[in-house]
Amino acid sequence: MADTAIDLIGGVATQEINFQWFRSALRADNGLRGSLDYGHAVIDTTAKLDQYLHSYGPMIESQWEHIAPCLAGIAPPTFWIDYGCGQGLAGLLVNDLTQGALLALVRDILLIEPSAMALARAAAIYGRMAPAATVTSLCERFDDLSEGDLPNPHAGSTLHLFSNSLDVPGFDPLALLTKTLRPGHHTILSVSHDRDFNGGTPRIEGVKAAFENPGMAHQLNIHRSMLERFTCDNPSQSKGVVWLCELEVNDG
Ligand SMILES: C[S@@+](CC[C@H](N)C(=O)[O-])C[C@H]1O[C@@H](n2cnc3c(N)ncnc32)[C@H](O)[C@@H]1O
Repeated sequence: MADTAIDLIGGVATQEINFQWFRSALRADNGLRGSLDYGHAVIDTTAKLDQYLHSYGPMIESQWEHIAPCLAGIAPPTFWIDYGCGQGLAGLLVNDLTQGALLALVRDILLIEPSAMALARAAAIYGRMAPAATVTSLCERFDDLSEGDLPNPHAGSTLHLFSNSLDVPGFDPLALLTKTLRPGHHTILSVSHDRDFNGGTPRIEGVKAAFENPGMAHQLNIHRSMLERFTCDNPSQSKGVVWLCELEVNDG
């Protein structure tokens, strides 16, 4: 069934494209929260996408609001990868919180998401927020990704955005990043619910430790790597965790 959200995103004035507009236009409590597997489900209907916006939108919004000061310190990238982008909420929030500054120089966008319905919404949103960029959508699970699927971006720096996705169980995060980290400058920004079950923060800590392992120093030059836990401002005062890592991947 066609998703009316796609026409909605295409038809709204550019200045209206923001998280508040998107959530107010589409959120719905369809009694489907239980089918979302705490937000980890690969969503297969628009009714569930709208439920996700209703049930998880406030937590994700308050996570990103909390880490807004980190966003101000990130140099605008030219290549943007949104891993497990869902329907594009993190892109909307980062764009809102930086007033477009972080997307301003982006020429290539890669969206990776196994839910075709969510991915179509995310591609439509990014297409409106960054009309001059080339958007590549990969409807795949991370473990199924092959290097040949990846676009060849213009030279520059890469932002790797994980919004509530690096902590999701069921894939190998180091294998994923080995495929996407090419020589050059990179910023990895991961924001998630802080928990120690069903995947969770230990997965993020594992990736951080692997990157900081002295044995990796010949391949990676880590400029900064900071993990911080925090409490969100949403009604349920969710716990959050952010990992921000800036690094250089050495050539050869
Ligand atoms: C908690 S949601 C986060 C969605 C979005 N990033 C956000 O912040 O709203 C987790 C996302 O990861 C995707 N996902 C789950 N397992 C995955 C896998 N093995 N490979 C790639 N994506 C996966 C789901 O489809 C879902 O969109």
